[in-house]
Amino acid sequence: MAIPDEFIQELKARSDIVDVVSSYVNLKKSGRNMLGICPFHNEKTASFNVSRENGFFYCFGCHAGGDVITFIKKIENLDYVDAIKFLAQRAGMTIPEENRNEGLSRLKNRIYEANREAARFYHKQLYTPQGQKALDYLRKRQLSEKTIIHFGLGYSPPSRFELVNYLKSKGFSGTELIAANLANESRNGKPFDRFSDRVMFPIIDLRGNVIAFGGRIMSDIKPKYLNTSDTPVFSKSHNLFALQFAKNKANGQLILVEGYMDVIALHQAGFENAIATLGTSLTQEQALIIKRYCDEVVICYDADEAGQKATARAISILRPTGLNIKVLTVPDGKDPDEYIKSHGEQGSTRFRMLLEKCGNDVEYRLQKLRMNYNTDITQQRVEFLTESAKIIASLDNSIEQDIYISSLAQGLNVEKNAIRQQVSRYNRQNTRQAAKKEQREIHNSISAINDKINTEKSYNLRAANAEEALIALLIFNPDTANTICSKTPPEKFITSFNRKVYDVIRTRVLEGKDISLTDISGEFSNDEMSQIAKILVAHPRENDSLRAAEEYLTVLDEEANKLTPEQIAQADTQTLMEQLRKMKEKKK
Ligand code: GTP
Ligand code: MN
Repeated sequence: MAIPDEFIQELKARSDIVDVVSSYVNLKKSGRNMLGICPFHNEKTASFNVSRENGFFYCFGCHAGGDVITFIKKIENLDYVDAIKFLAQRAGMTIPEENRNEGLSRLKNRIYEANREAARFYHKQLYTPQGQKALDYLRKRQLSEKTIIHFGLGYSPPSRFELVNYLKSKGFSGTELIAANLANESRNGKPFDRFSDRVMFPIIDLRGNVIAFGGRIMSDIKPKYLNTSDTPVFSKSHNLFALQFAKNKANGQLILVEGYMDVIALHQAGFENAIATLGTSLTQEQALIIKRYCDEVVICYDADEAGQKATARAISILRPTGLNIKVLTVPDGKDPDEYIKSHGEQGSTRFRMLLEKCGNDVEYRLQKLRMNYNTDITQQRVEFLTESAKIIASLDNSIEQDIYISSLAQGLNVEKNAIRQQVSRYNRQNTRQAAKKEQREIHNSISAINDKINTEKSYNLRAANAEEALIALLIFNPDTANTICSKTPPEKFITSFNRKVYDVIRTRVLEGKDISLTDISGEFSNDEMSQIAKILVAHPRENDSLRAAEEYLTVLDEEANKLTPEQIAQADTQTLMEQLRKMKEKKK
């Protein structure tokens, strides 16, 4: 990566990892480190560690880790260069000009520019003769002029070449338009408009970039919506429609709906905290993003069967984040957009009433469950209560559990204790299962069976452990690093991932450069950086680092001299005798 080393040094000095992480995670002091709730997975007890001293973070729960750049890459969903830019901007630094437009980073900038031009082009089309019908369509759907402008809605003309020709005249290349997914490639390699004869909804990220489009057909032809596929600037599972507006209006609560039209109708009716996924079901990444901007989410999906299934799924994804969840079911099988419109002037007031009286997710699930049983029949009442106990046991707050137990007991006229016992049984089962899972994870991590980054570790355990101890030692002790690196070639390392890490470190040491995690961040993927952070947390600083380093190198020598099982199978007698002699010598 051609970002000058001096720039990274300055950036590193100005980007204290604790300060940077603190904008996203509430950190508390814990021994030498800082501790908080991990933003990369769902957890209730803090296992996210940040070391200011050593400039890295590591989560003992999900094993995410790395330096400050890796953190920004992960949390802002950026690539290396953009993460650097992000941090540079935060630190008030300007990135050297010649690096601004390099490779992928340059392409991404071009895509942002092309998308912005395309959004302007589509919007202007609304006010041309061929776009008139799209404007009429939006008006028929009761969108005001103000709303159309606010959301930047537009129209893609039917010809299939109009946008491509326009953007080419603005200097964009066919390759760029295809990369942006504004154009498709014909069989003879010519780009043509991806969207034609559709109402266009621009999708905008939190920094105000147009990153994608959704296009709705104005007839019954399928598909109803066509969306931009994932591109270098767009991932449908990491973004949410209208969050750029909603995040400033959230006031603790976001409303999650299914469709673009629902979002727009709600915003127009004064509910500017509505958001939607982008034509797919809710993902874990989106749940964690939602959690950054509110404490409570109201799921307001369509009342049809698909919508109710999606609701159950969304609850299971949102629950572990610790967000308060409410479920609003719109009456009469309508979606929020239809509901508001069907009440005319009263639409907004009526929706606010629904919002105020909607129940939480547990009430919703119990109510749904109850619809499957006739509780007047004893057998069915028992079955319903047993299933309810499972739902209640999934809550980990015992006061909350008690509230539902009481209300069920009252409603069905049964002993509270009977339900409570059933819930306790499931509680114990859940605890046992969690303990088993934890044990399995610990076992796997010790035996390195599931080590996806260093796949050679599980059958080179002793060597890999020595290598890792040595890597940590070098990073913690730059002075010792000099002595060790000048006499230890990378070939000494047995597992290839650790060898690569050592090679990067060694090259820098021999050039007289720093070797903190931030210095080597550009050479490794996020997962690889997590692995390196894991190595650092697993190894405390050594007092006599030079002597310790020598010991690790001895282990590597010993391991290198061992024959592999395949070698033993193929070895001749003489080789085997020689090996035996070496082993005996070591024992003396
Ligand atoms: P209207 O029918 O115009 O009211 O749109 P809507 O926003 O209410 O859409 P609907 O409830 O049918 O679908 C919800 C969301 O699912 C849409 O906003 C799209 O994001 C997505 N979606 C619907 N139909 C399709 C489709 O055919 N293809 C894709 N990729 N996504 C779709
Ligand atoms: Mn709709």
